[in-house]
Amino acid sequence: MRVQVANHPLIAHKLTYLRDERTDSPTFRRLTEELVTLLAYEATRSVRVEPFEINTPVSPATGIKLSTPKPLVVPILRAGLGMLEGMVRLLPSAEVGFLGMQRNEETLEAITYANRLPDDLSGRQCYVLDPMLATGGTLAMSIQYLVDRGADDITAVTLLCAPEGIEALDDQLRELDVPVTLVTGAIDERLNEKGYIVPGLGDAGDRLYGVV
Ligand code: URA
Repeated sequence: MRVQVANHPLIAHKLTYLRDERTDSPTFRRLTEELVTLLAYEATRSVRVEPFEINTPVSPATGIKLSTPKPLVVPILRAGLGMLEGMVRLLPSAEVGFLGMQRNEETLEAITYANRLPDDLSGRQCYVLDPMLATGGTLAMSIQYLVDRGADDITAVTLLCAPEGIEALDDQLRELDVPVTLVTGAIDERLNEKGYIVPGLGDAGDRLYGVV
């Protein structure tokens, strides 16, 4: 797995306000969208394109457009939904699939409770959105889901990661014959005993949508 930390002062600045416990939900949602748009710029560096001809007011020219099949953006419910708008702002022609994953707070294992994805993802570049890579269980299961349906190029976009989660994800993906790239805003210090990222930002879903 290729890991890319998007190193940029604007990303670090927005992440700081996202981490701050005084930041309210409307501000947290707006900052998440802005951050994801910046991360999307990095995450789409290898998006597939093809040449096509246009005419400028001055002369013919060759440009590029996104190739088909269109990229697929997959937010992992619930917290990944807060990242969707920021991602499709940069990739408006992408299609969107949904995957509902939840972790059991006692075992920290991920379970799938919803899925709305095309059956055949052959040849699709997929962008999986999940704000927090903590234990790595949710992302590993989501990526396996996409690979089982034929996805052949996967980029995971996260706001924050724990080093333990990156290592666990890397271990679990080693057997997959599919390139996976992880783009993240920062790698934090560690996971605590409850599976939260330290210093982190708390529960991303709760901070986006409230405790429901
Ligand atoms: N999920 C979150 O929302 N926050 C964490 O710190 C870890 C997992």
